[in-house]
Amino acid sequence: MTFFLMLAMNPEVQKRAHEEIDEVIGFGRLPDFSDRPQLVYLDALLKEIFRWHQTLPLGVPHATSEDDVYDGYFIPKGTVVIGNALHILHDPELYPDPYKFDPDRYIKDGKINKDVANPYSAAFGFGRRICPGRHMSLDSIWAIVSATLAIFDISPPKDENGNPKPLKPIYSDGLLSHPDPFELVIQPRSDRHKQFLETLTASDV
Ligand code: HEM
Repeated sequence: MTFFLMLAMNPEVQKRAHEEIDEVIGFGRLPDFSDRPQLVYLDALLKEIFRWHQTLPLGVPHATSEDDVYDGYFIPKGTVVIGNALHILHDPELYPDPYKFDPDRYIKDGKINKDVANPYSAAFGFGRRICPGRHMSLDSIWAIVSATLAIFDISPPKDENGNPKPLKPIYSDGLLSHPDPFELVIQPRSDRHKQFLETLTASDV
C-alpha cells in the first residue's frame, strides 16, 4: 500500500522507475528475478518504501534474558525492550531529510551505496528474532512492484474539473500500522501496454 501511495505522490520517482524498466527489460515481457541486479533504482525504491513507513513501527517487544549494559545504561534481566524501527529509519544522521521519499539516497555511481544503512535491518526487527519471512516477503513484493511498474501508471484521483486531488499519507495508530483508505487511478501506461496486459496469463506473473 505504501508503494502505491508513494508512487502516486511522487511522479518523478515513478518516471525514473518506468525509465529503468524500459531500458533494462524493453517491451513485451515482464521483469523476472534474473533482471534484479540490473534494476538498481527499483532496488533503491523498495528500500525507501520499507524505510519510509513500517507495518510494525515499534517492532515486537522483547525482554532481556540477563542483565545488560548498553551505551552506559544498566538494563536489568526481564526488562521489556522495544526497538523503535520508525525512529531508527528516520534518523537524519543515517538518512538526511528523512521525511523525503528519495530512492536516490541509496545510490552512488549507479550502484547501491553499501555505506547507507540498509532499512531492512530495522524494518523486519532485530537480532535472533528478526522476521524469518523477510526473504519471501521481499521477493514477493519485488515481483508485484516490478510487474506493476512494467505495465501501469499510478496517479492520484481527479476532481470534477480534472485536477489531481492531493493525496495525504495518513497511517493508522497501533502495533500494526497501515495507510488509511485512499483513492488512486491505476491504468495501463499506453494502448500498447493495455494490449500486452491482455495477452498475459497467470503463468506469466
Ligand atoms: C513485508 C512483510 C513483513 C514484515 C514487514 C514483517 C516484519 C516482522 C517484524 C518487525 C517482526 C518482529 C521481529 C522481532 O521480534 O524483532 C516479525 C516477526 C516474524 N515474522 Fe514477519 N514480517 C513480514 C512478513 C512475514 C512473512 C511472509 C512471514 C512468514 C512466511 C513472517 C513470519 C514471521 C515470524 C514467524 C515472526 C516471529 C519470529 C520470532 O519471534 O522468532 N513474516 N516480522
